[in-house]
This record gives sequence, structure tokens and C-alpha cells, in this order.
Amino acid sequence: MAAPLRVGVIGAGRIGVLHARNLAGRIPGVRLEAVSDVVAASAEKCAAELGVATATTDHRRILERKDIDAVVICSSTDTHSRMIGEAAEAGKHIFCEKPIDFDLGRIDDALAKVERAGVKLQVGFNRRFDPSFRRVHDLVRSGSVGTPHLLRITSRDPSPPPIAYVKVSGGIFLDMTIHDFDMARYLSGLEVVELYAAGGVLIDPEIGKAGDLDTAVVTLRFENGAIGTIDNSRKSVFGYDQRVEVFGSGGMAEAGNAFPNTVIVSGDRSVARDLPLNFFLERYMESYLREMEAFVACVRDGGEPPVGGRDGRVPVVMGKAARLSAEQNRPVKLSEIKA
Ligand SMILES: NC(=O)c1ccc[n+]([C@@H]2O[C@H](COP(=O)([O-])OP(=O)(O)OC[C@H]3O[C@@H](n4cnc5c(N)ncnc54)[C@H](O)[C@@H]3O)[C@@H](O)[C@H]2O)c1
Repeated sequence: MAAPLRVGVIGAGRIGVLHARNLAGRIPGVRLEAVSDVVAASAEKCAAELGVATATTDHRRILERKDIDAVVICSSTDTHSRMIGEAAEAGKHIFCEKPIDFDLGRIDDALAKVERAGVKLQVGFNRRFDPSFRRVHDLVRSGSVGTPHLLRITSRDPSPPPIAYVKVSGGIFLDMTIHDFDMARYLSGLEVVELYAAGGVLIDPEIGKAGDLDTAVVTLRFENGAIGTIDNSRKSVFGYDQRVEVFGSGGMAEAGNAFPNTVIVSGDRSVARDLPLNFFLERYMESYLREMEAFVACVRDGGEPPVGGRDGRVPVVMGKAARLSAEQNRPVKLSEIKA
């Protein structure tokens, strides 16, 4: 049997612990060797829970270990591009949570280091691995809907994040819509050339005071002339609202919300069911496992990571274009975004 792939996780917060649990217990052929977090208690708690030998506050202790093949970067966004560069120079394969960075120059530097080192980089756009969205993608790719004409993505959170988070999030387009930008490219198989974004503050004036929006619609123009819309809200009273649709010359493929059960109660006045799975940790649990399996497989068996560096960069360009569009109230071509 081949030796297990030896992995270190950097950043043991919400998403880091989730990935660490998958790596430690749910993916064959992997050994989680080390966990790092600047907060010692976070690294130690995660390592103790999963029986991992090494917990450290310095991610460089992981990078300098010759017996570790790959790192999974789950620390705060402002550390990603630097750590990608450091990990590449240390010869480690890299899985990095989205976004790589908000600065295109820093993204390009990091991607150049990955290229030079010849290591693999996968970016954490997990929704591509959701079974329903993947099925829509596969149907579009196989020609079942014909030529795509219209794409529709609805993506609404159950409630806004804390204001402290909003202030450092990069804004709704780079924090939230970024997943939908990736989904638009993934589902259609097309690049977006121009977009127009309209946004408002309809949920919480504090979000506006922090310089952000809580409600937005983005119209996309694809390279083949097809049109897409993304609508976002930071507050959906019925829970996480995640639906997609691709309509084309030969038909339509759509995926609806996911529910905790299939029970429907019918009465003499209404037909009802329980609310959708409440947020991303429940709704996208399977996708997180599948994306990590795909990363492990591409490192072990060879082949390109399914979500590469360019896939990490383009949605950042789209997020910047959307911000400019909303600020200036005009359509923006992606080619206008240089930095
Ligand atoms: N793909 C997804 O669905 C998804 C979901 C949530 C978060 N994310 C991304 O994952 C990243 C982390 O988000 P989170 O929600 O887990 O945040 P979090 O704040 O819960 O966790 C981040 C952790 O990183 C640690 N950290 C910060 N600097 C570090 C360093 N230099 N070395 C080691 N650890 C360090 C922090 O102490 C914290 O424990 C963000 O970039 C976020 O955008 C992606």
C-alpha cells in the first residue's frame, strides 16, 4: 500500500477544524501530522481532539518538516498569499481557503511561486463539489440544456455576520458574492466579460456605516453573449437560500435548497415542510469532504487540481469589478480591473 499523504493544517478556526476533522477521520490514505494556530489553545484543542502529535503557534514549524507533503491553509484571509508563497518555496503542495488575497499583485506573486516550485495549489471553492451543483454543471457540459442563454444564482445568508467582521471582510462582493462568481464560471463553463452591480443597505444601517452593502444584484454578461444574474441578501428569514439555474437552447437544469428531511405536512389550509439547512457548515458539509478528497487524489495520483490558481484569481477580479460598478453605477468590463 502507498505511504499516506502527510498533511499539516494552518489555522484552526471554524473552517480549519472542519478540514482537520475530514483529513483525520474521513479520507483514506492521509495522515494529519500537525496543526498550527497563532492562538495556542486553538491548535492544541484541535490536535487533542483528533489525536494529532504536533500543535504549534508557528506555521513555519510545519513548513520546515521534510516528512510533511502538503499544507491546508485555513488562517485569516490576510495571511493566505504570503503562506502560499512560503509553502511553495518549502516544496509543499497547497490547499488554500478562498480568497487567495484581495490584492491582484500579491495573488500573482503567490501564483508565480507555486508555478516555479512545481507544487499543486487548490483553492477552496467548495460549492463546486456540492452534488446538486455538480450535477447541473455536468448536465450543462454534456449539452443537455443546449447553449446556455441565462444563468440565475440566488445566494442569501440566514443572518448578517458581526459588524467587526463586515469591516474587514473586503465587502459583500469579495466576501459573499465571490462564491457565486465562481459558481457562475463553473456552471456555465464560460468566462464573464462584463458585469453590472446594484446594491443597497436594507437590513442593517450599521452595515452601511461600516461601508458595506447587505443586498445586491449583479448582472453578468458572458463571453458567448449569455446573461446571468446573482442576487444576494445578508438576511433570509427562512434560512440559507442557495439555488441555481442554467437555461439554454435545449432546456434547463436547476438545483434547489437542501432540507434536513423530506417530510411534508399537508393540512386543509397549507402544505408545509421544515426550513432549509440553516447555513454553510450544514448545507455544504459534503462539499468540504469532496473537495479535500479531490485535493488528496490530485497530489497522490497526479493531475491538475480541480480548482486552480486562476480559478482563485478570476472571482477576485469579478468582486473588484462589482464594487466599482456599484460605486459608479455603471457596467464594468473585467478588463478594466488591473490591480
Ligand atoms: N470555503 C468556505 O466556505 C469558507 C467558509 C468559512 C471561511 N472560509 C475562509 O477560511 C478562512 C478562515 O475563516 P474562518 O471562518 O475559519 O475564520 P476563523 O477566524 O474562525 O479562523 C481563522 C483562524 O486562523 C488563525 N490564524 C490567524 N493567523 C494565523 C497564522 N499566521 N498562523 C496560524 N493561524 C492563524 C486564527 O487564530 C483563527 O483561529 C478565511 O479566509 C475565510 O474566507 C471559507
